[in-house]
Amino acid sequence: MHSSTLLLAALASLLDSTAAHGFVTGVRINSQWTAGSDPVWFYYPAATRPVTAGWDALNQDIGFVEPSAFQTTDINCHKNATAGKAYVSANAGDNVQFSWSTWPESHKGPIINYIAPCNGDCTTISSASLRWSKISQSGLISGDTWVTDELIKNNFTTSATLPRKLAPGNYVIRHEIIALHGGNNDNGAQAYPQCLNFKVGGSGTVLPASGVPGTSLYTRTDPGIKFNLYVGATSYPYPGPALWTAAN
Ligand SMILES: *[C@@H]1O[C@H](CO)[C@@H](O)[C@H](O)[C@H]1NC(C)=O
Ligand SMILES: *[C@@H]1O[C@H](CO)[C@@H](O)[C@H](O)[C@H]1NC(C)=O
Repeated sequence: MHSSTLLLAALASLLDSTAAHGFVTGVRINSQWTAGSDPVWFYYPAATRPVTAGWDALNQDIGFVEPSAFQTTDINCHKNATAGKAYVSANAGDNVQFSWSTWPESHKGPIINYIAPCNGDCTTISSASLRWSKISQSGLISGDTWVTDELIKNNFTTSATLPRKLAPGNYVIRHEIIALHGGNNDNGAQAYPQCLNFKVGGSGTVLPASGVPGTSLYTRTDPGIKFNLYVGATSYPYPGPALWTAAN
């Protein structure tokens, strides 16, 4: 390995122990704000826990799901996640702006969005029963600029568009950053999935039909997971299923 590459990798792992990771504080659609879940709420007594569209999880360390756990249900909506008790109101075709609490510059990587129909009530569903279709992904922009750099530049916000012909109904959106600063090592990538319930209106007709369980999304050896950020790649092999475009 080139010595500057070694230095960068060492620096990245040092930064990792000190950097504040983030979580999704909420979403904005046509200037309407809906809160996500704050990890500090997890241990609040049920009666005082804010009722929001965001899924609660055991991510009080604002940490990540590691590749060795990609075949467990934690990869769906983060560790030990439980369904949000409310919904974001949206329409097919809406632009959804996700706000992160913060994000460390060293944690470069892709931002990927998935959708899963609840076929009923999302607020009582288990993450294991969700079947994900990928609706958007963004990664390497140019040079060593990644979509996470744009997230930071845009006040920790990033957006995705709900498919224009999406059928009305209840869905979970899985919004995820995969940090690749340690991705050159086995089990070194870091997945930060965040889930929110959406109640989608509008006059679309197309339902996601071919979604996959979270445990089938990635493996630790996928080229987009075990990926070296420091060797000047000019393209990025996105992990996960192909984009689902039938409702676009
Ligand atoms: C979290 O999930 C793991 C594995 O499914 C389980 O062993 C553990 O007890 C759970 N922790 C809490 C606090 O629910
Ligand atoms: C950045 O986001 C924070 C929190 O979401 C908000 O309070 C602040 O007004 C935003 N700043 C700008 C310049 O938009």
